Amino acid sequence: MPAQGPAAQLIADVREQGFGVLDDFLSHKSVVRLRTCADLRSIRGEFKAAAIGSARTRQRREDIRGDFTCWLQEPLYPAERETLALLEQVRLEFNRRMLLGLLDVEIHYASFPPGAAYARHVDQPQGAHQRRLSFALYLNLEWDARAGGELRLYEADRAIADIEPRGGRLVCFLTQGRVHEVLPAKRVRMALTGWFRARAE
Ligand code: OGA
Ligand code: MN
Repeated sequence: MPAQGPAAQLIADVREQGFGVLDDFLSHKSVVRLRTCADLRSIRGEFKAAAIGSARTRQRREDIRGDFTCWLQEPLYPAERETLALLEQVRLEFNRRMLLGLLDVEIHYASFPPGAAYARHVDQPQGAHQRRLSFALYLNLEWDARAGGELRLYEADRAIADIEPRGGRLVCFLTQGRVHEVLPAKRVRMALTGWFRARAE
């Protein structure tokens, strides 16, 4: 990742406004390859209905969260490995420029069927205080704005950004306190979503 390249702008935006959007983080070809991995894992039954609550109180509430997730675990496909390597560069760049002390990452695919959404929330549930920087990398080729599915970011109860889940686009935001939601889409909405984490305090 070049020093003054696109990631520099992404990081500057995160620093100034708490979030940033980088289009074409993945090339069209890479999106095709990674989406194929996601679809393959889906066909193999590796996606599970996402639940809400802590380990003790877990429940499926489709009215709150309707997606299906698949944690990225070994063995990985080559396209997944390559994407992880790119995200590793992003982690290092954030550390270099913002001194975030990001140590590692947790990542899952998230697939929202048509009509599914994820109501307003923050990404630091009980036991996940180490999450510092949230990201979503979208895997939806030929996304049409009319399909919906925006990531909506809030600040003090006011919507400040609606971000379309266009293929290859990377969104990053500082996890702490950032309320956000996923609006329902008319098509399947696939993303690779994750969190860069800092050391436990
Ligand atoms: C999440 C989430 C945002 C998105 O998985 O916690 O908020 O745009 N995802 O997919
Ligand atoms: Mn979230």
